[in-house]
Amino acid sequence: MNTSAVKSAIVRDETVILQARDSIFGDQAFLCTRGRRHLLLSAERLVEVGFRWPEDLEQTSERMLRSFRPAGPVPSPTPVWPPVDSMGMREWLATTIAGTGLEIGAGASPFPVPLHCRVLYGDRLSYERLTAEPYPGQRKCDLVVPEILTEFDEISGVADESLDFLIACHVIEHTRNPIGSIAAAHRKLKPSGQLLLVIPDKEQTFDRNRPVTTLDHLLEDFHRPDRQRDLDHYREFYRLAFSVPQNVLEETARQNFVEEYAIHYHVWTHDTFAAMLAALPATAGPWGSVWTHPGVGNASNEFYARLVKPA
Ligand SMILES: C[S@@+](CC[C@H](N)C(=O)[O-])C[C@H]1O[C@@H](n2cnc3c(N)ncnc32)[C@H](O)[C@@H]1O
Repeated sequence: MNTSAVKSAIVRDETVILQARDSIFGDQAFLCTRGRRHLLLSAERLVEVGFRWPEDLEQTSERMLRSFRPAGPVPSPTPVWPPVDSMGMREWLATTIAGTGLEIGAGASPFPVPLHCRVLYGDRLSYERLTAEPYPGQRKCDLVVPEILTEFDEISGVADESLDFLIACHVIEHTRNPIGSIAAAHRKLKPSGQLLLVIPDKEQTFDRNRPVTTLDHLLEDFHRPDRQRDLDHYREFYRLAFSVPQNVLEETARQNFVEEYAIHYHVWTHDTFAAMLAALPATAGPWGSVWTHPGVGNASNEFYARLVKPA
């Protein structure tokens, strides 16, 4: 994405730069346009697209800021390669998309989708459920309102071949059927459409004591889904990720299984994920190009994949 593309996406008389200092938002400033508020990661981004800083910053109330729906941070019009941190990589990836797409599982950290794109939001849980049970660290005021309720491995409510892009950031590990999710994305994307995935690296998260999920297991989940195998994931998750004591392990696993708490079902490193993509069954594609990249920067706990459907 170039600077002029961002500029043309910003209609000045429909855009305000707002801050509500004495509120839950604190010092954060937002570019607010077309009903959405985009977190400003740095003032330079504003200046790059023709705003004045701090002259264009206006103070407002928490209520006013809340009246805008949360959306991703304002992407940098000039992201650098190679990126130096996770947000830099996300912004760089975002520059490869255009048109209309869907982000699944945006939670409280929607992707920095370029302002000239139209993005729909989807989740397996309603906004009411998401706000009632936020993930640790998620602020309710940042939670995106999903307009499409669907599991990633179904992507219901979206016409086939209708999306230019599909984004899932820290979501595929929550799905029972990751290969099925990639297959569903393939069905929903237009020719040349792109699937962008950000995946946690098991070695850098609470999953580090769990064994990597084998390719055979992932293929089995795709070809022969099985609830018993799902329950085994809960046992493994609570035993090895959260060290739940043996005497309450079975009860904890079963209760969360019944409540369908979205655990990390499967875990990967960059290399095992790339191996899964290299071995996708024919019914999960075909993909024209498949690109992966390890985490960037010392603090990274994630890696990246970009799959492009053939033209
Ligand atoms: C860990 S949060 C990720 C939030 C955000 N994308 C981020 O990177 O911080 C996972 C989100 O995906 C949703 N989710 C989990 N499993 C899902 C599934 N199988 N299908 C659709 N959405 C799912 C959750 O409800 C939640 O909103």
